[in-house]
Amino acid sequence: MLRPMFYNYTFLISSIAPRPIGSVSTISSDGKHNLAPFSYFQVVDHDPPVFVIGFSGRAERPKDTLRNLKETGECTFNIVSEDILEAVNVTSVDAPYGVSEWALSGLTKADSTTVKAPRVRESVVSIEGRLCEIVDYNTSRKPVGAHGALAVIEATRFWVAESAVDENAVMLS
Ligand SMILES: Cc1cc2nc3c(=O)[nH]c(=O)nc-3n(C[C@H](O)[C@H](O)[C@H](O)COP(=O)(O)O)c2cc1C
Repeated sequence: MLRPMFYNYTFLISSIAPRPIGSVSTISSDGKHNLAPFSYFQVVDHDPPVFVIGFSGRAERPKDTLRNLKETGECTFNIVSEDILEAVNVTSVDAPYGVSEWALSGLTKADSTTVKAPRVRESVVSIEGRLCEIVDYNTSRKPVGAHGALAVIEATRFWVAESAVDENAVMLS
């Protein structure tokens, strides 16, 4: 018998901790903006900088973020600090495809330069990125039932709020 999904979920999110939250901004091929939080999010290399996002399984209705990444191959990651936690939480609502979570959250868009997806102006660190590949897990649950996917993304630009820059920090060359 399969262990119930909810037991795995509660066990894993409380034992694999802490995890960063990435607020991921994407745009669909017809220009609709989307923003959603992901805690299965990590940096996995630095040269070039590579990030991953884990999408939990909803094979019958993929998350809009995954769908947009497949369509346009671009996103921004916006690091979530305590002051924007509640607003970011609001963006996790299951809004119908094409309904922007930006307006619901009150977070504001800032232009990106290497991708079309906007950044979250309130984030201390934002990262623009392009999709390298999507990995559909070859698990025991495939092809039936829930299965997730991993998006592998290469960073194309970093943004850091001036207030977070330490003028006295020594750069290692
Ligand atoms: C704090 C937080 C972290 C989340 N992390 C993930 C995650 O890593 N992977 C995932 O598939 N869903 C995650 N979710 C759920 C998605 O944010 C949610 O399904 C959202 O509706 C997806 O939006 P989209 O369909 O616009 O992409 C998380 C939700 C919250 C509140």
